[in-house]
Amino acid sequence: MSLVPDIELPTAAGDRMARTLDQFSDKLLQAYEEINLLFRLARFLNCVSEPAELLKVFCSQVQQVLPFRWLAIRFDPKGTQVQELNDGLFTAGELPCPRGQFAQLSSEILQRFSGVDDWTRLLSPGADDLATVAGADVLAEPVTHDGRVIAVLIAGNKDGDDPQISSAETQFLDAAAGFLGVFHANISRLAEQQAFFFGTVRALTSSIDAKDRYTRGHSERVAVLAAQAAAAIGLPRKTVEQYHIAGLVHDVGKIGIPEAVLTKTGRLTPEEFEHIKKHPVTGYGILKDIPALSEVLPGVLHHHERWDGGGYPHKLVGGDIPLIGRVLALADTFDAMSSNRSYRPAMPHDQVLAEIRRCAGTQFDPALVPAFCSLDFSEFDRVLKQHQFAGAIAA
Ligand SMILES: [Fe+2]
Ligand SMILES: [Fe+2]
Repeated sequence: MSLVPDIELPTAAGDRMARTLDQFSDKLLQAYEEINLLFRLARFLNCVSEPAELLKVFCSQVQQVLPFRWLAIRFDPKGTQVQELNDGLFTAGELPCPRGQFAQLSSEILQRFSGVDDWTRLLSPGADDLATVAGADVLAEPVTHDGRVIAVLIAGNKDGDDPQISSAETQFLDAAAGFLGVFHANISRLAEQQAFFFGTVRALTSSIDAKDRYTRGHSERVAVLAAQAAAAIGLPRKTVEQYHIAGLVHDVGKIGIPEAVLTKTGRLTPEEFEHIKKHPVTGYGILKDIPALSEVLPGVLHHHERWDGGGYPHKLVGGDIPLIGRVLALADTFDAMSSNRSYRPAMPHDQVLAEIRRCAGTQFDPALVPAFCSLDFSEFDRVLKQHQFAGAIAA
């Protein structure tokens, strides 16, 4: 496509002029596409969720605009605070060698240039192993965060008539690497905030679980099961994370229950049971002003509702109970029956699952029970063992 209108020029000089104009037009169009892509990348990298997915799209978009047969981002094995990016390799196009070998050679480039200010951006066959394997020049740009090289953005095997890598292409890759550095700074900040947030939530929940040695680790195990169940019924990743948090905080209202009631071994009196029944509302009250927890509040409030309407606090029936409450009810009951309690020993999984199936349609949402009963409980067992071991040491 040409940006210049057709012009009739009668002579050989005119033909030359037309060719020059065409070349100029092509260059202009290429520059326009590159600038346009840079704008789109800047906007798109502002979105910090699903970083790995974003980086895959980033690679393929940049590779489509630049005349390189392949493009890749190679992250340092421990250079980033964002766990899922550590040692990551994101690629687009046709790599010059098998992926394992490419990972190794690109990692060598990264290691060679880490801590060096003066980068050689253009790597040639004979001077660099990846360029040698590719049989062509490779362009490498550092991605930095706080002055540290955390990744390298590389492209190679330039297509087209001119095999020389131009300064425009170098500048474009340099700008793209700059965006990646800013993107990494944003997601690192988010990861730090999330770690702080989870640390606070865990401190809160373990202070409740610590009130009763029999329920030690209950919230964490409910969190594991709720997240697994959410994934099993096909909820998106972000929602799965919310179910995990909901599991961690679902019993936070127990902080308001006297310890004597919470740890009582015998049968509860009606007044004592009234105390217990208040914990969903108390928990809701504690958490309702934390914006990051707004999505999990219905789970905290409704995890003791029953499908037949016989639960508490609002006696909601069937589908009126928020889904998060219905999932938590299953996870909560499974853990309560699978761990030792003051009034009875732990039940084996097959017995617990038989009981859950028996209560489908009365206590539990019958549509959720099959998915829940098909979960892999090995992670739950691992976490339970850890809690039992910690409990035995503390006793
Ligand atoms: Fe509860
Ligand atoms: Fe619970």
